[in-house]
Amino acid sequence: MSAMRRILHPVVGLLTAGSFFLVACGGQAPAGTAGGGGGGQPSGPIRIGVLLPYSGVYTSLGENITRGMELYFEEIGYEVAGRKVELKKEDDQGNPQQGLPKARQLVERDKVHLLAGIVHSGVADAIRDYVHNQRIPLVIANAGAASLTRDPNRRSPFIFRTSFANGQYESVMGTYAYEKLGYRKVAVIAPDYSAGHEKAEAFKQYFTKAGGQVVNEVYPPLGTNDFAPYLQRLQQTSADAVWAFFAGTDAIRFVQQYALSGLKEKVPLIGAGDMVDEAYLEEIGDAALGVVTSLHYSPLIETQENEAFVKAYREKYDTVPNQFAYQGYLTARVIAEAIKAVNGNVEDTDAFLAALKKVEFVGPAGPFRFDPESQNVVFTVYIRRVEKLPDGTLGNVVIDQFPDVSDDF
Ligand code: PHB
Repeated sequence: MSAMRRILHPVVGLLTAGSFFLVACGGQAPAGTAGGGGGGQPSGPIRIGVLLPYSGVYTSLGENITRGMELYFEEIGYEVAGRKVELKKEDDQGNPQQGLPKARQLVERDKVHLLAGIVHSGVADAIRDYVHNQRIPLVIANAGAASLTRDPNRRSPFIFRTSFANGQYESVMGTYAYEKLGYRKVAVIAPDYSAGHEKAEAFKQYFTKAGGQVVNEVYPPLGTNDFAPYLQRLQQTSADAVWAFFAGTDAIRFVQQYALSGLKEKVPLIGAGDMVDEAYLEEIGDAALGVVTSLHYSPLIETQENEAFVKAYREKYDTVPNQFAYQGYLTARVIAEAIKAVNGNVEDTDAFLAALKKVEFVGPAGPFRFDPESQNVVFTVYIRRVEKLPDGTLGNVVIDQFPDVSDDF
């Protein structure tokens, strides 16, 4: 337990949904307002460039982030501080090579005021220098590349992250797997690119620090259809459990094939919550039953804010929200709160960045705030187990929680 952070932030705990007004200072005279027409208050629509994968392995992530964003903007009538909000969407295909040209298109052709989205860490890495040098605020809604918020040489005043840093919830599971689940030897498997390695590394670091041993590591390529050769390698080790991270179509195939191979009966599967996300949990089916994961969200979190979010989401989309929809919803709200705080003047970049930094509210999964240094979200990590719910569907039931986890793990 000692290694798990349970430090409470009393100030955040007291905040209520509307309390950002207390901390975010609006009404400051904008210096050097651009595009305002004669130095007055800028008008016209605020354009948000949404860069997400709408094709490839992470398609469902991109679609669900979009759904979450659109639900929030619809709730506020696509209008903030008297200005219309427009979303300009581009498909980055979850491909780092598409990231920069698409970001450029949004900024230079569509003249967006800010960028939001990004699922694949490689895409976020690829556009880092561009947004930094062009002074374009970027609110990352998924990509977890840890250096973008933690490395003093990589982080940027223009980059915020509402979702997670890779390792932020995996580190918690590292300790939990040893101390609470009682595992001593674990094998890990994750996609062979930066995010897979970062997440696995954080789990390993905390699991071994607690006293555990990592007995095998397997890294299949992103977008694997047939996991058989990798599952065979996992079969060859005597692990108490397998820790895994996969998302999108990789998650569906991996969890299904893990059960089909017979491994699941012998070696329990644990991991990152992305792997059993509600976006594809029904498609995975009973193969996911009993899988224990860590994540910053579950639609089964029992708070007023979450119940309202789940209800609104169900009404619009006829299904429960998931991690990615939640991240999209949160991203939209954070952006809207900051726009409100500068009274619509997003053209005053410095004021807008300062307002973003100060955004705080109680959202569906608990208090929302950014770490002032990294500009990465600080959140509660939930430990969840996939169970059959009374209505016959599968769900991630919350079995434990650890508040106030930052990306400084
Ligand atoms: C990432 O590339 O950082 C990434 C992608 C998918 C996830 C989580 C992280 O579900």
